Amino acid sequence: DMKSFIDVLMKKMTLEEKIGQLNLPGAGDIVTGQASNSDIAKQIRQGKVGGLFNIKSVAKIKAVQKVAVEESRLKIPMIFGMDVIHGYQTTFPIPLGMSCIWDMNLIEQSARIAAQEASADGICWTFSPMVDISRDPRWGRISEGNGEDAYLGSQIAKAMVKGYQGDLSKNNSIMSCVKHYAMYGAIESGRDYNTTDMSRVRMFNEYLPPYKAAIEAGAGSIMASFNEVDGIPATGNKFLLTEVLRKQWGFKGFVVTDYTGINEMVAHGMGNLQQVSALALKAGVDMDMVGEGFLLTLKKSLQEKKISLLEINNACRLVLEAKYKLGLFANPYKYCDEERAKTEIFTPANRKIARAIASESFVLLKNQNNLLPIKKTGNIALIGPLADAKENMPGTWSVATDFSAAVSVLQGLKNAVGSNANILYAKGSNLDADSIFEERATMFGKTLHRDTRTKEAILKEALDVAEKSDVIVAALGESAEMSGESSSRSEIGIPKIQQELLKALLATGKPVILVLFAGRPLTLKWENEYVPAILNVWFGGTEAGDAIADVLFGDVNPSGKLSTTFPQNVGQIPLYYNHKNTGRPLGEGEWFQKFRSNYLDVSNEPVYPFGYGLSYTNFKYSDMHLSSNTLKEGQPITISVTVTNTGIVSGKEVVQLYTRQLVGSITRPVKELKGFQKIALNPGESRKINFTISINDLKFYNSDIKYVAESGDFEVYIGSNSKDVTTAAFKLVN
Ligand code: IFM
Repeated sequence: DMKSFIDVLMKKMTLEEKIGQLNLPGAGDIVTGQASNSDIAKQIRQGKVGGLFNIKSVAKIKAVQKVAVEESRLKIPMIFGMDVIHGYQTTFPIPLGMSCIWDMNLIEQSARIAAQEASADGICWTFSPMVDISRDPRWGRISEGNGEDAYLGSQIAKAMVKGYQGDLSKNNSIMSCVKHYAMYGAIESGRDYNTTDMSRVRMFNEYLPPYKAAIEAGAGSIMASFNEVDGIPATGNKFLLTEVLRKQWGFKGFVVTDYTGINEMVAHGMGNLQQVSALALKAGVDMDMVGEGFLLTLKKSLQEKKISLLEINNACRLVLEAKYKLGLFANPYKYCDEERAKTEIFTPANRKIARAIASESFVLLKNQNNLLPIKKTGNIALIGPLADAKENMPGTWSVATDFSAAVSVLQGLKNAVGSNANILYAKGSNLDADSIFEERATMFGKTLHRDTRTKEAILKEALDVAEKSDVIVAALGESAEMSGESSSRSEIGIPKIQQELLKALLATGKPVILVLFAGRPLTLKWENEYVPAILNVWFGGTEAGDAIADVLFGDVNPSGKLSTTFPQNVGQIPLYYNHKNTGRPLGEGEWFQKFRSNYLDVSNEPVYPFGYGLSYTNFKYSDMHLSSNTLKEGQPITISVTVTNTGIVSGKEVVQLYTRQLVGSITRPVKELKGFQKIALNPGESRKINFTISINDLKFYNSDIKYVAESGDFEVYIGSNSKDVTTAAFKLVN
């Protein structure tokens, strides 16, 4: 069995070889920090490398694996990781978009396909899911997470881990690495890599649940985050990595740093490289990504008795166990099948599913007078810097994709209309006034083309095109480089130059549909007021262009619902639906009241609330019913509601259930998501939807960090978003 196999192996290992297993150099072309890995082949031969990451192709992986298993003394295979974040070569929407689907089967399926493709190309380990809750859209990495809600985030975390890991004994499953542990999404001011500091109560109730859910779903590894928590960087934080993760949650897998997370503790002010490496090991880190702090200093720390051999052994064992679980000892080339690489990646079948999934991630934000869907006839103007930009479609962290194979909006619309309509394209403007975003795009090997004509000339061409059209589709918003790692923004609107274009298009008097690209919630107060139709398409992946056409022309009815609140302005941030009431709450729908909790210059309302998203049809909610008004241990209650499609097209609706505990031993949120169901209804069709609530669903961490349910009065809400709800009440008797 695994234990005795590893016992025998470890008896043969020298101290250097054990430390070598803890070393994870980067071998790919993707460098996201201060990286320095020297002469990797030589290190592999010496048994000083545990694995490599972001190295792509069976041929390359096979070649280095061969060095490990044929030329190193103990022939220990390496593990190969990659940032397979939202698909491999077939890319799905960015995670924030995926989280607007609210269909866990589809989310799991996307991870399954990602695992199948990655494993066909030599990869056995992915740095995903990213489950950092965030309420700060300034943070560029909000695009990589599942939004602001711990319950929704936990469901997604589970689905992703299940999808990736499937059955690890098979060669089409890969090990998941949940990240970034912990609370990276709560960094101050949304500035990447900044400080996190929060109460334990908030931590356990609002930020930790998705990591815990991923662990419970069996995630084989976890990545420590860059930020500090309670004054100690997560990478050296024993409370997080040992106390909570191992002791409370019973995690049995291994912990890897995020990149140079150990080295960065020098800049955090935690000591020199030797000290911070020892701190990380003692806190619970098992594998050191890129930084070589373990490789260079652990032996010395052991000699000086700063760390123990047991600590090194424990870490080494966990890394070896992961390799064992992946079947790499039995077959180091288990994931190196050239035939699979040729036939299982970016297949028509996978692309078809990605297209369907992309269309489900889009959120229809506004649709005045049912402007959408449009017909496949006449002259359709397609204008904007993101209209003919296939390289922009996959979005952030698309390491394994082929950008040139992605479908642009222009291509998608042309594919859809064939010869029935004319698609008249013009760029309209550059992305932004200066060229910074085009320049950044080159980092991942893409090229975005900047139009060097004058702003006026570019606009004039677009207005000429608009003049000839019956309807204008404006493809505007953020480019992929405006969100993601190290892409925080202090103003989160559509870039000014594009806003000017949008205004000019509206001034033509033609109907304008905004196809909005975004890696975060944007401030859309003005757009919501003046643009008749807005479809938020995030970054929908390689197939997004076709998926956008599917929705614009009504072949697919949009059904995405927001997983994050869209604020009116940056000053309202953090703005989230499950906030506390305060002692001086402002009444619903009111604006300024002296000595109430509010602003002089903006209301407390979002532009679009959590859970929001329109459809081409309408859904009516009726007959909300509780099976009992008292909830007791062992006697859950059923809450039902009837949902009717009152329109003329079929559609999908996400029926949402929220609760509120009115009185508690600590203050409780005004609303908390506790359940949801995504259903499909034909025109005129009604369905009774049942939710079951048990005592367990109402538990929370009290001020002693005990997970409890408290007796008392509750309200329960059912509706189509977090604001638009029907209310009922019940009592919990414990
Ligand atoms: O997995 C990523 C992480 O999200 C950010 N830093 C680099 C890692 C490996 O590429």
